[in-house]
Amino acid sequence: MKRVVVLASGRGTNFEALAKELKEEVKALIVDRDCGAIERAKRLGVPYIKLEKPWQDSLRRALRDGNYDLIVLAGFMRIIPEDIVREFYPKIVNIHPAILPAFPGIDSIKRAYEKGVKLTGITIHIVTEKVDDGPIILQRGVYVKDDWDLKRLESAIHRVEHIWYPRVVRKLLYDRWEIKGGKVIFL
Ligand code: GAR
Repeated sequence: MKRVVVLASGRGTNFEALAKELKEEVKALIVDRDCGAIERAKRLGVPYIKLEKPWQDSLRRALRDGNYDLIVLAGFMRIIPEDIVREFYPKIVNIHPAILPAFPGIDSIKRAYEKGVKLTGITIHIVTEKVDDGPIILQRGVYVKDDWDLKRLESAIHRVEHIWYPRVVRKLLYDRWEIKGGKVIFL
């Protein structure tokens, strides 16, 4: 059975979607702080690791010990050190709540909303040394209706994330794929 670890810092709704869809595969949650994801892990019976200081060394150790097939970032609000990215490439994947390269960084949904975009969405990509960059695995769009407030847009984005992230992780685990021309291609 394949081994997946999820890294989170926040509410953990993507972690929960992943853990429910990939019950056998999600072996652990790693967090860098007290956060909502921990309560979800307890409820779902997924072991969790809280990183110690310095978090970089603690993370490196946890990833080596776990021997994971895929390392899934789900709202982990830290930049993964370059040496860790290199050591585990291309096994670290990330989800971002915008159509990259638009709106990288934090508060992406809010910034897209305030910009008045009529189309935004999600990006799932392989993590490289550049933040919110790296070979794209999947993007899905969300149209922003004119009468939506920010909350409505946030919930629409999250709904799309929860549908697609588990599907993509499953495909990465069990299908054949390669990185070509800056993107991931399933063979
Ligand atoms: C998600 O919307 C994810 O796309 C975003 O954090 C949220 C985590 O929510 N990630 C980033 O912004 C990464 N740059 P969750 O804790 O409920 O899964």
